[in-house]
Amino acid sequence: MRKKIIAGNWKMNKTVEEAIELANGVKRELADCTEVDVVLCPPFTAIKSVSDIVSETQIAVGSQNMSSEDEGAYTGEICHSMLKELFVRYVILGHSERREYYKETDEWINKKVIKALEKNLRPILCVGETLEDRESGSTEKVVEVQVREGLKNVAADAYTELVIAYEPVWAIGTGKVATAEQAQEVHAFIRATVKDMVGEEAANAVRIQYGGSMKPGNAPELLAQPDIDGGLIGGAALDAESFAGIVKAGM
Ligand code: G3H
Repeated sequence: MRKKIIAGNWKMNKTVEEAIELANGVKRELADCTEVDVVLCPPFTAIKSVSDIVSETQIAVGSQNMSSEDEGAYTGEICHSMLKELFVRYVILGHSERREYYKETDEWINKKVIKALEKNLRPILCVGETLEDRESGSTEKVVEVQVREGLKNVAADAYTELVIAYEPVWAIGTGKVATAEQAQEVHAFIRATVKDMVGEEAANAVRIQYGGSMKPGNAPELLAQPDIDGGLIGGAALDAESFAGIVKAGM
């Protein structure tokens, strides 16, 4: 039985003051939640404040990106040791917004995944097709390449630590949620791909989140699917009550 994991990706939203208010709101709602793993991923500037607020609770903190390098002349980048010192445990890698706007490639994302695992941070690897991919019937092909390349050289026993987030790009921030059947179909395909790559045990253990306009209203149906093990939430994570509503749907 895989434990559900719901992560809030706050993207480029919330000043420190606003982040403190949101994190306190989530803490009031979910501090004692043990049935579901809850992760908050604020912008880098608010990680310290959010970590302080959720310390001594079950709520974990994640970052929205991480450098593949250890240290040095990489202007604007943040590395693993800087995150770990702020008690970050998860790192979102390869989000479609980073692939699209910052031209992150599968090869580069794979370097980050490997680095994160080596440093005991848990990657949340994002994959997903564009509308054009879906309409041309290439969803599986696109997702398969992202999974195989993104997780290249990852050992089978690391799959208990990492998370894959399936986020159809056309459903992100658009209000167009994938139907539970559409999402389940791709989740099952991702699990079959992992099985082919590293075996059944890892495939059964790896948690696969759905992301893309997930809300308290549609979460119960999505989270009831056999291969959907949680959610990566954008817009609805910016409000404590709606985020908590999604987490509660996973209990
Ligand atoms: O990382 C989160 C996803 O991009 C989903 O965003 O819930 O606003 O559609 P959304």
